[in-house]
Amino acid sequence: MFRVNENYLKLPGSYLFSTIAKKVGAYAAAHPEESVIRLGIGDVTLPLPPAVITALHRAVDEMGAAETFRGYAPDLGYEFLRKAIAEHDFAERGCEISPDEIFVSDGAKSDSANIQEIFAADSRIAVCDPVYPVYVDSNVMAGRTGSFDADTRTWSDVIYMPCTAENGFVPAFPESRPDLIYLCFPNNPTGEALTKAQLQDWVDYANREGCVIIFDAAYEAYISRADIPHSIYECKGAQTCAIELRSFSKNAGFTGLRLGYAVVPKALRDRNGVSLHALWARRHGTKYNGAPYIVQRAGEAVYTPEGQEQVREMVGFYMKNAAYIRTGLKEAGYEVYGGVDSPYVWLKTPGRMTSWEFFDYLLEKVHVVGTPGSGFGPSGEHYFRLTAFGTWENTVCAVDRIRAL
Ligand code: MLT
Repeated sequence: MFRVNENYLKLPGSYLFSTIAKKVGAYAAAHPEESVIRLGIGDVTLPLPPAVITALHRAVDEMGAAETFRGYAPDLGYEFLRKAIAEHDFAERGCEISPDEIFVSDGAKSDSANIQEIFAADSRIAVCDPVYPVYVDSNVMAGRTGSFDADTRTWSDVIYMPCTAENGFVPAFPESRPDLIYLCFPNNPTGEALTKAQLQDWVDYANREGCVIIFDAAYEAYISRADIPHSIYECKGAQTCAIELRSFSKNAGFTGLRLGYAVVPKALRDRNGVSLHALWARRHGTKYNGAPYIVQRAGEAVYTPEGQEQVREMVGFYMKNAAYIRTGLKEAGYEVYGGVDSPYVWLKTPGRMTSWEFFDYLLEKVHVVGTPGSGFGPSGEHYFRLTAFGTWENTVCAVDRIRAL
């Protein structure tokens, strides 16, 4: 009789956002009279920018005409998009990334889950705690995380780097040497960012210790302060130790369209001199047939002058929400973090309530949905996340309801 991959059986319960969706669905079904406001999962609410819509229409028409029809996309992505990315996301910031170091994908979630495949099975991973659950779960599936301790909700073979108010949400170097270090900055879920000097320290550490940093920069469009790096390649030496993941979801509203990319520099090699770039290209070639042509044209439109202006407006809209949440909750006496360089606001739960107690409390008393901090890891306990991706009306209403509690 066949057997399943038993690593999957070690995963505790369902994925965080599925658990929340189930709970909220049950509550809404039992209380149809209540208007529930969802500021839980970081899903955008504004429609796609007009420049993107125009590009989509044009590309759809091309696909319907014999002369311009396209079949399989190149599995690493169309040149027109990779060039636009290299120029706007990197060259303009002084980073030397060439188009053929860019691998177009269907989003940063898949890339962050899949990238671990090219590393040795016994690689040790280090993650910030709290952490975007995909980094850990994908390594659980790969059998790399040891056993799960239900009391501490930690994996025996994972190195956790606490990020709390006490250390300003900046991870300290781990006591034992990891092989892979997952860093997401601006951070999901804390909403806090690393300065360029702090990120440079991590790059230096990784080069010194022979580690790879998987740098998730999905929220870079939300950076407002000048000393926060948008790319890890702004740091010296990052090309020999870092892979960067980017997403079109949060900066341009592509959560339903799906587009992202990974940067794997050619200078990045393991201790035997094996090129990670070649491995990732091989992996793409075997397992991926490329993001759809029409979606890649939509991505290209993001980099046009109109596209840039429209996505700036979009980001500005969400950051106005973030400011409203931050200010409103601060005035209501909450301890509040994030929301300055990121669309996530991270707050301390009141009165030592656990994260899930506060989740239930908000849902039942004011019908507002957020994300319990403990769902992101043990150091997230007694914290709670609200997203700025709601509509303005819902954001104002949610904050006002919480203030009135
Ligand atoms: C989140 O809410 O943390 C994000 O929306 C999850 C994701 O981007 O996959």
